[in-house]
Amino acid sequence: MPLNAAELLLVLADQGRLPLRLRLANALRDAIRRGQLPAGTTLPSTRILANDLGLSRGVVVDAYAQLAAEGFVRSRPGAETTVVYAGTVALPEQWHKRSPAPRPVPELDLRPGWPDLSAFPRAAWVTATREVLTELPDAQLGYCEPWGAWELRRALADYLSRVRGAMTAPDGVVVVSGVTQGLTLLCRLLLLSGTSRLAVEDPSNAVQRELLSRLGMDLVDVTVDGGGLDVDALTATRARAVLCTPAHQYPTGAVLSPERRERLLRWASESGGLIIEDDYDAEFRYERGPLGCLQGMDPARVALVGSVSKTLAPALRLGWVLTPPYLLAALRGIKRDDDFGSNAIAQHVLARLLESGRYDRHLRGLRRRYRERRDAFLRAMERRLPDWTVMGNAGGLHLTLALPPGVSEGRLVAAAAARGLSVLGLETMQGSTVSGPGIVVSYARATPDMSEEAVTRLFQATQFVDQVTSEMEARVTSAAILWQNLG
Ligand SMILES: Cc1ncc(COP(=O)(O)O)c(C=O)c1O
Repeated sequence: MPLNAAELLLVLADQGRLPLRLRLANALRDAIRRGQLPAGTTLPSTRILANDLGLSRGVVVDAYAQLAAEGFVRSRPGAETTVVYAGTVALPEQWHKRSPAPRPVPELDLRPGWPDLSAFPRAAWVTATREVLTELPDAQLGYCEPWGAWELRRALADYLSRVRGAMTAPDGVVVVSGVTQGLTLLCRLLLLSGTSRLAVEDPSNAVQRELLSRLGMDLVDVTVDGGGLDVDALTATRARAVLCTPAHQYPTGAVLSPERRERLLRWASESGGLIIEDDYDAEFRYERGPLGCLQGMDPARVALVGSVSKTLAPALRLGWVLTPPYLLAALRGIKRDDDFGSNAIAQHVLARLLESGRYDRHLRGLRRRYRERRDAFLRAMERRLPDWTVMGNAGGLHLTLALPPGVSEGRLVAAAAARGLSVLGLETMQGSTVSGPGIVVSYARATPDMSEEAVTRLFQATQFVDQVTSEMEARVTSAAILWQNLG
């Protein structure tokens, strides 16, 4: 056998606490797969190998039996054990890396999309998890209803009716793993029914646009202005479905005006169209209570999609779709076929938070924190860049800064990046309609000191734009799509 006893002993020692028979089987299997023990090789008798390795014979017998059962060797009673596996397989080179190389994190990252993760209510989550694991019957650890645990659907129906003015009941809620899954499932249903044209706001989330295009949707851009989505432009697209963010347009922050809300609903009823309402950022409204969702005005035409990615953490991957009744059975079915349902333990924990009032309490604290952060950012803007127009600051976790005439967006973003400040250019979120340059800045993760520093760097960046090379500019534009670190 080309592998000697000393080498084998080293490999055995390397495998920690596994039982010896498994360690030996692993070592021999690896050697066979790497070609060190090619087909036809006769393995030492169990007595000799046990002796060489200082192991009991039973360990070697068991290891050989394991490899024989897997088809790597053939052993006949009273005869030799021979390698029969003829291939050589090795891990692809790129899989050898144990952990991904950390992405370089800019010093001050104010790109939108991430909440303040330090605000995650760890203690409340731990308490609710303990309650759930103590009280949940064993049966509930099996497959739950793929469209969501009943307790969470009940809690969400109550919460969304109470806080978002939604019109629903537990049976109208489908639990999904975030807005992203909600949108992809709805779009897959549209494709199945022969509808591929989807109107989307322009500008809007570039990552979402890209993934919906990859899914096969034919996206048509619709302009957005201070009153939100332009419904006349939507009508002209002849699309039968629209994806929009009425509560707080992403990224401009415009709130859909009352008149356009009414016209959008009329568009849906006259065209038989579907409104997919991404309830983005709706929980964060600082000057007055949030507007109720559109779904509450016409639940037969609007699918409301939301998640806890901004209120708790994106890592939970939990969200919901309130679907029009005609889509309910199909949506339940496609969710079941996709993944058999989202993590049921996390669903029960979220249900506890919602039902106990701990979620509401957490949201009140978050709103205070974000309002203070927004105000600090605005004060810094007032001091350093008073001529700049700030848009969309009545709610949400970010605002949009229109650039003064003559300032190039790409150059400014690159100049800011050179000073360790990451912001997102508005043009990177634009499709075919032109709404002008700007930058999108999130204050969610910025303490008041960080905001002061960020605005100072932004001011310095304006002085430095002339020195930005096209290479620097290209680097930030192509990096824009990585804003969520999704690769
Ligand atoms: C417009 C918009 N909607 C929704 C989301 C949240 O997606 P998910 O719930 O899949 O985390 C994001 C993410 O930042 C977003 O930009």
